[in-house]
Parts: sequence; C-alpha cells; structure tokens
Amino acid sequence: MYELRNLTKTYTRGKDTIRALDAVDLTIPQGDRLLIQGPTGGGKSTLLQMLGALDRPTSGELLLDGTDLAKLSEARLTRLRSENIGFVFQSFNLIPTLTAQENVETALVPLGVKTKERRELAAEALESVGLGERRAHLPAEMSGGQQQRVAIARALVKRPKVLLADEPTGNLDESMRDEIMDVLERQWKEHGLTFIMVTHDSAIAKKAPRVATIRKGRLTVRENAGA
Ligand SMILES: Nc1ncnc2c1ncn2[C@@H]1O[C@H](COP(=O)(O)OP(=O)(O)O)[C@@H](O)[C@H]1O
Ligand SMILES: [Mg+2]
Repeated sequence: MYELRNLTKTYTRGKDTIRALDAVDLTIPQGDRLLIQGPTGGGKSTLLQMLGALDRPTSGELLLDGTDLAKLSEARLTRLRSENIGFVFQSFNLIPTLTAQENVETALVPLGVKTKERRELAAEALESVGLGERRAHLPAEMSGGQQQRVAIARALVKRPKVLLADEPTGNLDESMRDEIMDVLERQWKEHGLTFIMVTHDSAIAKKAPRVATIRKGRLTVRENAGA
C-alpha cells in the first residue's frame, strides 16, 4: 500500500535546517497495523503528515498504491486525502459550534454526498462508535473520550483506505484510553483498514506486532513475534 524510499523532510528555520525525516525506507502493506513511537521532536507527526498527504517530502519517494505523492498537484493531493485518508488527532479537532452529527457529516461534504445520505451515513458512523444517543450534542457537552469517538466516526464515515492517528489517547485519562483503543481496534478489524498510529503509551506498543521507532528523523522497525 505505502512504499517509502529514501524519504527526507527538512524544515528551514532562519539559518537552521531541521531534518525531521532522514532517509526513511518503509513498506506498509494493505490492512497492516503499524505503531510509531519515539521521543518528542523525533519526527513522528511529520511522518504521519507525509503518509496523509498533508505535506510533501523534500526528497525521496512516497508511493501510495503506486502513485508518488511527492509528485501530485495540490488539488490531487486534497482529493486523494478526502477520499482515502481518515485522521484522528490528539486534540480531537472538532468544530465547537457543530453537533456530533454535523461534525461527522463535514467529512462527506467534499465528496459531494447528498444531504440525505450524509445524514444516514453520519448517524451510522456515530452508532458504530457507541454514540447513537449523542448525535445532537455539541463537543462541549461531551467527555473527552466521547469527543474522540466523534472524531473517529468523522475519520471513518467516508470509508477511507487508511486511518492515521496521532497520539489519539494523549489527552485522555487512563479509563478513556482503553475505551478509545478498543474502538480503534474494532474499526480496524471490521473495515480492513490500514491503520497507522503514533503513541507514547508503551503498554500499547508492547502488544503490537510491528512497531516503528523514529529518533532524530531515523526510522527503525521491530517485529514483535510474541504479540
Ligand atoms: N512546520 C514546521 N516547521 C519547522 N520545524 C518543524 C515543523 N514541524 C516540525 N518541525 C520540527 O521537526 C522535528 C520533528 O517534529 P515532529 O514530527 O512534530 O516530531 P514528533 O511528532 O515526533 O514530536 C522537530 O525538530 C520539530 O521542531
Ligand atoms: Mg508529534
């Protein structure tokens, strides 16, 4: 599904050049579940941004199903993103003035889904994360765990091929962390997604079959035979 070859991303700040990703090689098969770990500033979020076509690499290849994302126009990247890629962030990123239902529907607007179908699909997605009863609630009226479940429904309502999650449990207390991990795990299994998640939680990483670690932009992958 993903094929990264010699992928480098640099940022320039004044006179300094930061190598956020440094010659990364990585293959991610379809349906895989990959965890990404590493110290703050190591390059985890930058890698997720590359995989999610939010930004382009400075050099190297980034193939998604054979298409080099580094070479696509902005318009094609935007389209590819809205069709194929679901994001979940640490900070939920819900729109505060919209209800749960409306927040989920926003993901279908760029795809040209008609109002009635949008309503049905969003209601279904909220149902599948256990929030069928909360559709009319605003984000401020929900707990952190519930808000993150809305964000998961929003990411998945369009049936993307890829789910990218950047520290999705980072703002949650322990009891909610397990709940969110269960929801993500179930969605991954049910939808045959390719699921790539950044996490600081070493308990989660211990149970994962494949873990990538990024330090100073350099990536290594460890297979976890026992998991
Ligand atoms: N937009 C940006 N402009 C400049 N530097 C950036 C930008 N985004 C990230 N960086 C730098 O790139 C490095 C990797 O950052 P990041 O990918 O956010 O790490 P992580 O998610 O592992 O904490 C850091 O040194 C960070 O300061
Ligand atoms: Mg980060």
